[in-house]
Amino acid sequence: MEKYNFNAKNKFIFGAATAAYQIEGARSEDGKGDSIWDAFSHRKGKILRGDNGDLACDHYHLFKNDVALMKEIGINGYRFSISWPRVIPDGDGPVNRKGIDFYKRLTELLLDNGIAPFPTLFHWDLPLSLQKRYGGFVNRKCVDAFCRYAEITVNALKGTVRHWFTINEPWEFSCFGHLIGTHAPGSHSFRKFFRVMHHLLVAHGKAVPVIKSCDPEAKVGIVISMTPIHPATDRERDHRAALLANQFMNHITLKPLYHGEYPAELWRNAFLFRPRITADDMDTISTATDFVGLNYYSRERASYNPIMPVIRANISGARVPEKQYIDKEGKQRTSMGWEIYPGGMSECLSIIRDTYGNPPVHITETGAAFDDEVGSGGRVADPLRIEFLKNYIRAAEVSDRQGSDLRGIFVWSLMDNFEWAAGRAKRFGLIYVDYRNQKRIIKDSGIWYRDLIADYIKQ
Ligand code: FCB
Repeated sequence: MEKYNFNAKNKFIFGAATAAYQIEGARSEDGKGDSIWDAFSHRKGKILRGDNGDLACDHYHLFKNDVALMKEIGINGYRFSISWPRVIPDGDGPVNRKGIDFYKRLTELLLDNGIAPFPTLFHWDLPLSLQKRYGGFVNRKCVDAFCRYAEITVNALKGTVRHWFTINEPWEFSCFGHLIGTHAPGSHSFRKFFRVMHHLLVAHGKAVPVIKSCDPEAKVGIVISMTPIHPATDRERDHRAALLANQFMNHITLKPLYHGEYPAELWRNAFLFRPRITADDMDTISTATDFVGLNYYSRERASYNPIMPVIRANISGARVPEKQYIDKEGKQRTSMGWEIYPGGMSECLSIIRDTYGNPPVHITETGAAFDDEVGSGGRVADPLRIEFLKNYIRAAEVSDRQGSDLRGIFVWSLMDNFEWAAGRAKRFGLIYVDYRNQKRIIKDSGIWYRDLIADYIKQ
């Protein structure tokens, strides 16, 4: 067993992560309202194999069993998300006590098992009613609705929850949901992309003092994704394309959050689509927080494309044939087609350290999908995932030694779940879920993680 050593010592969190829509199911139970994902996943042709999250992993009913599995693996932190429409069915109206009670029971049970809860307030399942009435986060009314939702939820859960994440991956929600259209709500507009992006960041900044005034003990941060983008060739124009593409995917969140401004060149190019920015927006966005959550999976490549609006680049990972997921260079990829690139972990952490003031970091997601199957004796052997995690965690540890302020790692995901547009076809879990009967099996990677954690504690 490899040894790991983090500066945070025994305060270091070895956790796992999930999100409400991806695991809970119970779509309309106990007063829950619909989210944009409930509607989107039922639209024809949107989700692979026509799947939806109505049942997902049925975690709403099986949460006790799931916490027992967390305990068995030995994680000391669990990142999950709270379903806004479970708590406030129409987004800004009456509160659904039963919804809140579910998260109370969950967080209390986690604490009883020595697992610190790390909830995210918004992991993409916007109440459908807010989308219908206001157009969703295109409209600033959602900022106020989010702050009210944050206030209600934090007041209800203070005492059990100490660490809060406001929003998961503003860039992905804005881009996949509003520009590319592969995620809910499914729009295709640069204008919407920039507005949603900006409003999410403002919502985050406004929610920070709200959360702290409800609970002065609370620690708060946002979760951003980073995907380092490297030039496709050595040509100068591909280098410039990569610079701009990095502004578009990575610095578009970090720069406003930590420097109070959007990346200059990107902003110049986006002049046709820029959102309205009020006088105090940038100060709001750059409100001080306690940590940042980093989701890191893979890198991409950029090549110059003069007719691509705003970014003047094509960003693409090489396409790989399904089944083996081996790329042109003969290298193994994950079943999402994503390159396995541990070096990117160090790259992201050093950008956060050297360019953005070295805030404390939680790696809130890292992990891989492979086509796991149950083998003989009911065992799920997933050596590729073990290898993946080994190398990614090692890269994080090296950065920690080089001065990054790492506080925890949450593997994506605790269990196989509804992977958005890919439905239940892509398995990311440390725990295998048999969707025919909701049976869970801890995969070899889960056992490996258990041993790693046990070993770490012993040191
Ligand atoms: C991230 C999402 C998470 C999960 C992983 C694979 O972008 O935050 O919900 O789908 O990707």
